[in-house]
Amino acid sequence: MLVVFAVDIAMVKDAEPLPALLTTSDAVSDAAAKVMASGEFKATLGETLLLHSPNGLKAERLLLVGLGKAKSLSVDEVRKGGGAAVRAAKPRDLRDIAIAFPEDHALSDEHLDELPCLLVSRALVEGALLGDSDYDTYKSDRKDTALQSLSVIAKEAEKSTRSEIQEGFDEGVIIAGAQNFTRSLVNEPGNVLTPTVLGQRAEAMCAEMGLKCEVFSTETLHELKMGAFWAVAQGSPEPPALIVMTYEPKLEKGKSAAKDAPVLGLVGKGITFDTGGISIKPADGMEKMKYDMAGAGAMIGAMRAIAQLKPKTKVIGVVCSAENMPDGKAFKPGDVVTAMSGKTIEIVNTDAEGRLVLADGLHYAKTLGCTHLIDAATLTGACVVALGILNAGLFSNDDATSDKFQEAMKLSGEKFWRLPCTDDYRDQINSQIADIRNTGGTRWGGAITAAMFLKEFTEETPWVHLDIAGCAWNDEVKPWIAKGPSGIAVRSIVEWVRSYSA
Ligand code: BES
Ligand code: ZN
Ligand code: ZN
Repeated sequence: MLVVFAVDIAMVKDAEPLPALLTTSDAVSDAAAKVMASGEFKATLGETLLLHSPNGLKAERLLLVGLGKAKSLSVDEVRKGGGAAVRAAKPRDLRDIAIAFPEDHALSDEHLDELPCLLVSRALVEGALLGDSDYDTYKSDRKDTALQSLSVIAKEAEKSTRSEIQEGFDEGVIIAGAQNFTRSLVNEPGNVLTPTVLGQRAEAMCAEMGLKCEVFSTETLHELKMGAFWAVAQGSPEPPALIVMTYEPKLEKGKSAAKDAPVLGLVGKGITFDTGGISIKPADGMEKMKYDMAGAGAMIGAMRAIAQLKPKTKVIGVVCSAENMPDGKAFKPGDVVTAMSGKTIEIVNTDAEGRLVLADGLHYAKTLGCTHLIDAATLTGACVVALGILNAGLFSNDDATSDKFQEAMKLSGEKFWRLPCTDDYRDQINSQIADIRNTGGTRWGGAITAAMFLKEFTEETPWVHLDIAGCAWNDEVKPWIAKGPSGIAVRSIVEWVRSYSA
């Protein structure tokens, strides 16, 4: 099957759609001419139309894929288009696909600045491979419909363009591979993916990709005095896992790393199931809390891509994984625990457990030498109330670091919205009896008070916090991606890491 993209070039508002193909190939244009003129295909984003035995083409099928309005065409639409093409192929059992590289100059004489060759190629491949994954692992009647081959066909052009398309293709394979790896972890149910198993999966990935990996458990938590992390873990018979993955860049011969070279710390919340603990959650929807390790999944996936893309910066991934259970041995509201940093915490609600494991994870990452920190966590329902499911929350104690992340977002196409994390909110986590409490005094601004809590443990170290509670799981079917785990944050984190070696 050959895939070709189309956009709607109608300029006037509410005008009839005017679909146009993003190809300069006369053969493809001729084959599609009739249906393009029929008005049946409007080129809306994700719309597809399949032609059999297209006239004059070697391909058995020609699939038209809409990318929406030409005016708003960006790399993101190309990514979705790649996904829509593959997802249209799957139910038809078409497993060998060739995609015609979208030629924006088919519309005008110029290339659009927003559509650099390398990024378009990368997004196209990312979209196709993300669209290829289905989460039917546990269906007994599952059929393997995975792609067998994916080709991108581009016209012979200047050499640089050709190599850019190839480079984008290769990067797309790595990045989507990492994101799909994350998605497969997040999809696992809590009885399969315990903290121990998450540690094993991370170890196997690191062994395959040439990263150093260490997995610690209860004893080490006690040795390191991780009282906050342990408080959460203590109520489950499943032992916790502290997963540490290290990427060291290869230095040129005879060179040593600069003394002030950044070391990036990627810290993930890995609650493999969150019942809420003694402050137990309502039964309704609790089954979704298997995805409370999506932040950890994102960091493990990001490390996988980093191992392959080989940036020039040292990166340490730290995952704090535990199960949050009610039990005779579980921590309780009113308990006071001491975090690794020495700060004392009054537990007000055992369901605010993510910030506790991250408190020790962030502090620990600093002791390993991290100069910049980023964390990802399905941290608060309040963030979902604030931003819905289209934007995830972004918080930071440092504008320069936050700006760098926001630049990375432009390349990744993921959406995060910055919310405040300023000291005027600090009072809300004051405790009567300890240094801080683990919830805000009221319901209001719950995503911010959670971020303020984390900030107590990053202190002066530049840090970005990503609250992905609303975006880590897709509940709606989209033409370009399956329902289920989204793999949010992997692409942006990888891009952010790469921006330190530019
Ligand atoms: N894992 C939840 C947050 C969450 C909610 C993730 C919805 C995904 C979807 C977190 O541990 C939690 O329960 N947070 C509480 C905090 C509260 C007790 C201060 C919340 O958001 O209700
Ligand atoms: Zn919770
Ligand atoms: Zn949680």
